[in-house]
Amino acid sequence: MKIKKGIILAGGTGSRLYPLTIATNKQLLPIYDKPAIYYPLATLMLAGIQDILFISTPRDLPILQILFGDGSSLGMNFSYQVQHKPGGLPEAFIVGEKFINTEPVAMILGDNFFHAHGLPEILSRAVQSCTGAGIFTHRVEDPSQYGVVVVDKNDTILEIEEKPKNFKSNLAITGLYYFDETVCERAKKLFPSERNELEIVDLLKSYLLEDKLSMSLLGRGTVWFDVGTPRALLDASNYVQVVQDRQGIAIASPEEVAWRMNFISKDPLEKLVNGLPKGRYKQYLHGLVEL
Ligand code: DAU
Repeated sequence: MKIKKGIILAGGTGSRLYPLTIATNKQLLPIYDKPAIYYPLATLMLAGIQDILFISTPRDLPILQILFGDGSSLGMNFSYQVQHKPGGLPEAFIVGEKFINTEPVAMILGDNFFHAHGLPEILSRAVQSCTGAGIFTHRVEDPSQYGVVVVDKNDTILEIEEKPKNFKSNLAITGLYYFDETVCERAKKLFPSERNELEIVDLLKSYLLEDKLSMSLLGRGTVWFDVGTPRALLDASNYVQVVQDRQGIAIASPEEVAWRMNFISKDPLEKLVNGLPKGRYKQYLHGLVEL
């Protein structure tokens, strides 16, 4: 499969982060020195995706538009769509049907953070081997807050379950998914669960039933956070601070990623950098321009 389009789902109520989220969207909260949503955006960009749809609430979508604009200065194409109520993750494929236009699509949750050496290769290997839908799993100590996968010794998926109380596996499903062109039709056939949401695991099960669900296990060299809680937000911030300051690099700078992925050349990067206010971020990017 080849994937050129991506969705960033960035709505929701952020109830586990209350009162931080009374007046702002969860994905606009900082992970150290950047809005949380920069990190999933950088992940999709590192997967080579330039056409991105942001989905958020009527209140928050205009702020995301201010933050990202049309993406052209990054060599990207950004579009925006409202989700009126948080009716579950698969609603992204109903709201985003026009954007998807019966093509394969990636989706990343706006509160998910990935960091690894060689992430572009990991992501492109997974997409190449994917025929129907692809998920990325990560081992966690307590999987009860996540979707969970049970596999046999050959890594064949046997079961998937959302937030199981008695879990049979430590493999959490991360918030990054690849889907083929049938995803919108499948999403429209789902029924709301007991909590009155369309469930991502039900969508994945429709692929599993047809033996079209593949899994890539992100190994120990990969760092993954779902920053849905204050503690996770702090852990992710501490991680970014330590790695950036120690190594003198920036994690998830869209300007840098756009340049490194050859979405823009040095001249447009320089123009972008010159337009930034004085400060550490500008200084860092300025260093790249002078390389
Ligand atoms: O982070 C990985 C986990 O994400 C997976 O393991 C679970 O299977 C998956 O259901 C999801 O669980 P969460 O409990 O973390 O989902 P949450 O309700 O926090 O929503 C994830 C993001 O999607 C969040 O940024 C808000 C946004 N969202 C959520 C819903 C339900 C929307 O924009 N619209 C929605 O309707």
